[in-house]
Amino acid sequence: MDRREFFLGGAAALSVGAAWGSNAFAQQHAPTSINVQHASFDLGKGVTSGLVSTASDAPPPVLRLRKNQTARFRVNNQLDNYTTIHWHGLRIANKMDGVPYLTQLPIEPGTSFDYEFTPPDSGTYWYHPHCQTMEQMAHGLTGILVVEDDNDPQFDAEIVLNLKDFHLKSDGALDTPYTKRGAARGGTMGNVMTTNWLQNPAYDAPAGGLVRLRIAATDTARIYRLALEGAKGKVVAMDGHATDLIPWPTKDTLLILAPGQRVDMALQMPDKGTMVTLNHHALSGHRPLAQLMPTGQNLKHQLEDLPSLARNQLPDLDLSTAETHEFLFGWTPEADPQNNGWCGSFGYSFWSINKKPWPGDAEPNVGPLAEMKLGKTYILRLRNESPNDHPIHLHGLVFKLLRSNKRDIPQIWTDTAHLLKDETIEVALVADNLGDWAFHCHVIEHQKAGLAGYLSVV
Ligand code: C2O
Ligand code: CU
Ligand code: CU
Repeated sequence: MDRREFFLGGAAALSVGAAWGSNAFAQQHAPTSINVQHASFDLGKGVTSGLVSTASDAPPPVLRLRKNQTARFRVNNQLDNYTTIHWHGLRIANKMDGVPYLTQLPIEPGTSFDYEFTPPDSGTYWYHPHCQTMEQMAHGLTGILVVEDDNDPQFDAEIVLNLKDFHLKSDGALDTPYTKRGAARGGTMGNVMTTNWLQNPAYDAPAGGLVRLRIAATDTARIYRLALEGAKGKVVAMDGHATDLIPWPTKDTLLILAPGQRVDMALQMPDKGTMVTLNHHALSGHRPLAQLMPTGQNLKHQLEDLPSLARNQLPDLDLSTAETHEFLFGWTPEADPQNNGWCGSFGYSFWSINKKPWPGDAEPNVGPLAEMKLGKTYILRLRNESPNDHPIHLHGLVFKLLRSNKRDIPQIWTDTAHLLKDETIEVALVADNLGDWAFHCHVIEHQKAGLAGYLSVV
């Protein structure tokens, strides 16, 4: 179904799909409700109200799924605005991907949508709205998805850290999270950095034990520069997939985590007394994001004995036959006003892909940026001609980083390629998942100001 057909007949097709999902399966296994609603919470400046979460007084929870097991979520929209939920990094069926006007219609206030999917990969992923994305994400609606794997090694503890900023006034009230100025540059940074909605929280971790840290950068703009200080360990996965190509992040080897990206680390807790700190090293100095406090008897588990994580079944690339598609990320030739729809248009655009700014979500006549044939290997040449960083994210597929014109990059599998200023990165993928897949910068102000589109697998 192309976008035009979707606009003409998609609503009917979708409600049939949703009804089938709930009737055929719900009796054996009821969907888990996700009640998207307003929340109040103390982010460190007194209670902030008007936040967006899935409970009235808490951040969105960690959702735990199992590899190859079907999950069902009923998203009940209890806001006074439209929404959808996208499952970032999961290679699932297109109609469950949560992209408004591309894979489903926006969920109206007071109504629900049933998502049902089977994650083929284990690892650390996340969920967030894809309609009213700027407002709802900035106001808190980002949560971590953990897909568990029976074949993963055992850890003594697991700690999940969701990193994001809030934009608050001095009395704790929400401030405007986006600006025209920010959209034209690197995005509008928040002024309160949080981890799981807390400023520099401290967590207990078993002394001398092996801890799995799952960290996700879910801010709308901030690029984290991370170091883990006070413990040794190794990076065991990036963006969901097991890897041993990433150095342990110290202040000399910072781990850069751009919006949308995740990292899993295995670390050995020290004995009682010394805290472990996750720091963000900004150019202006560093600040702690979270602390781990060794507690209890020393478990004496050795990092050296830790086997690697279970591998996901990733596609076999056939680079010898791969066709190349080029994408140029840059300014718009002119500032086109964006149009219509229920998902929060800015009314201005600064950015483009291949010189075309995304004209707004609800524009039925926009075709894909590229078409790819099911089962074939493609190289995507991602060229940034702008002075800003762009974490470029593709839905529904996983790609392997091949090379950069500026630096050595680890050849990892990922869903988000972080392009630096004037950098070109080539990535390769197998087009093994049918449908229209959103493709955009994960600095949400860039996405909403033109740096978006989609790729079709046919
Ligand atoms: Cu995490 Cu289209 O996004
Ligand atoms: Cu995504
Ligand atoms: Cu960008």
